[in-house]
Amino acid sequence: MKPTKLNETKLQETKLKETKTKETTKPPAVLSDIKARRALARKHIEEGAVTAGYAAERETVIQLLNEALATELVCVLRYKRHYFMATGIHATSVAAEFLEHANQEMQHADSLAKRIVELRGEPNFNPAGLAERSHAEYIEGSSLKDMIKENLIAERVAIESYREMIAYLLDKDPTTQRLLKEILAKEEEHADELSSLLVGMKD
Ligand SMILES: [Fe+2]
Ligand SMILES: [Fe+2]
Repeated sequence: MKPTKLNETKLQETKLKETKTKETTKPPAVLSDIKARRALARKHIEEGAVTAGYAAERETVIQLLNEALATELVCVLRYKRHYFMATGIHATSVAAEFLEHANQEMQHADSLAKRIVELRGEPNFNPAGLAERSHAEYIEGSSLKDMIKENLIAERVAIESYREMIAYLLDKDPTTQRLLKEILAKEEEHADELSSLLVGMKD
């Protein structure tokens, strides 16, 4: 079809509209004003990783992380005790599992302490009151089955605590939340391994 004068005018109008739309439609502002953000970052430089946009209740988060730290430390101690005791009763494969868990709980403790410092808090490693601060208990257990059971119970306690902490944080502190989710996944793995060990085990 040959372009008529009317068609041409319409075409020009449409092009003009498109250009105007391109000029006026800016992408939505995802980030706050960069100048204001830089000024705030400079002002509170001593607060390190904690910036003005930190939406969580910092003191509460630090307290929760310290309770999680105590829980991990108690778990290290319990797993270590069980590792040496299980080695003594010639349960090599179970002992190896206990040792692996002890080492992983220590890594969790380290990550939690690191995050506490990033949030300008102080990690509490004080042995006085450690058992009270911990969510999980230190129970020695007399038989191998007892030890596995106690560890499984402690893992289940830790799983619930981490779930609650993650829910509490919502999206207010994504870094802490990510760390807690990683630890939670590991605790679930531990619980699963322990319950597999229990299957078919005599009293
Ligand atoms: Fe852990
Ligand atoms: Fe664990």
